[in-house]
Amino acid sequence: MNMTEFPAYRGAMEYVCLGCGARHAGDELLYTCPQCGGVFLLENTRFSALKEHDGAYWRAIFDERAATRVTALRGIFRYYELLAPILEPEDIVYLGEGITPIIEAAPALRDSVGIDFAYKNDGQNPSASFKDRGMACAFSYLKSLVRKHGWKDVLTVCASTGDTSAAAALYASYVGAPLKSVVLLPHGKVTPQQLSQPLGSGATVLELPGVFDDCMKVVEYLADKYRVALLNSKNSWRILGQESYAYEVAQWYGWDVSNLCIFVPVGNAGNITAVMSGFLKMYDLGIITRLPRVFGVQSEHADPVYRYYAAPKASRHWQPVQVSPSVAQAAMIGNPVSFPRVAMLAEKFIAIGGEKAFQVVQVTEQQIMDAMIAANRKGHIACTQGGECLAGLMNAKALGLIASHEHAVLDATAHALKFSGFQDMYFSNTFPPEYTVQPDTSLANRPELLLSADKKQSLDAQAYTECAAEAIVAKLGLAKK
Ligand code: F0G
Repeated sequence: MNMTEFPAYRGAMEYVCLGCGARHAGDELLYTCPQCGGVFLLENTRFSALKEHDGAYWRAIFDERAATRVTALRGIFRYYELLAPILEPEDIVYLGEGITPIIEAAPALRDSVGIDFAYKNDGQNPSASFKDRGMACAFSYLKSLVRKHGWKDVLTVCASTGDTSAAAALYASYVGAPLKSVVLLPHGKVTPQQLSQPLGSGATVLELPGVFDDCMKVVEYLADKYRVALLNSKNSWRILGQESYAYEVAQWYGWDVSNLCIFVPVGNAGNITAVMSGFLKMYDLGIITRLPRVFGVQSEHADPVYRYYAAPKASRHWQPVQVSPSVAQAAMIGNPVSFPRVAMLAEKFIAIGGEKAFQVVQVTEQQIMDAMIAANRKGHIACTQGGECLAGLMNAKALGLIASHEHAVLDATAHALKFSGFQDMYFSNTFPPEYTVQPDTSLANRPELLLSADKKQSLDAQAYTECAAEAIVAKLGLAKK
């Protein structure tokens, strides 16, 4: 068999409701259970056919596919059989998502943290966040539905803290008609860089006062009552795509994840759902023989999942929280839609890997900013949520939750540039008090204007060059050759 060709295997996808257990065929777009309103996970009812081969077979397939020239298999669909093996190659949208680099911590940073760790730079996806993994799968599925039904008009909608909307708008604009993208954003709570993305892709950008949780309720209302395609992670096809993160981590570490601690920032909880689901699938197929440990990280300004797991098991009850301003703004969510998925998968994780296989740690806003600045000053490209992961690792270490022989993989979920406004506030010491961040002013880095515009006006070109160069010589104390 030529393993670089598109696989012949096809599965059959079913939505499984986590509320009442009802099953629905995966050939139509459903978001929540018509019976009980519960959230779904998608299950391949022909998954057992994959078990006719052992783990070594699948590892070899995925390793060989790393060299594929088949466009549909170049990104997240390298792991086709584990994702949505009902899609045809012509449905698959590939914009360069996935297969993001894992970068070992700079030695100085690793030494100061005291634990071996690496960042997986999911900001190096096409719209500069991990959301592209999920969108590639959701849009491929949408394309398959359009092909099947001959739909003339499909309005995709999502609520977003910024990255989901950037990804949704990008993929919609690439696929084009009949797909159109509408995004709903909490006014003033999305960074200017994130806002520029759906605008640039030509999406309809709508804003509402409030926070993400308010916008999410509005798009849920729309998806319940009107003909729209919801692209939030409530859409389980997104979760499948985001599982690719786990597959890539396992593959990079030679399919041995037993020593790994995976740190994931938690907002709407779709990402941590996908990461756990992905590792469990590989375990089920014998592709990995041990699970890694998974650590969710939340800011104390948006920490419902942390609070749930911090309570003793017998007295746990789910309670959304009111968020307050957070530098990890993309994860500033008080009522995560995917919480039921996390609860179910965490139980499975713990049943296999033991009590310590799944944990949630809390961090302060101060720790998030300090960690992001520290990482980026050592050559990383972490966003504030990536800073949150590093702060989570440091707290896990301080709490004795991680041993010195373990290796942590931190999800830098978006590119640093999307969140440069928070870096600006840090360097200029202008955080509004509600963020509770006090910058280390010794780290402040500001541009210096060397000459005035008037000075430039007064000089000819040659004199200007010399004058500017001499100002730099004086400033840096350069020695002559
Ligand atoms: N990091 C970044 C950069 C994000 O954009 C998000 C979520 C998260 C972490 C949290 O991931 O929601 O799967 O738990 N952003 C969503 C959005 C909510 O609308 O862009 P999660």
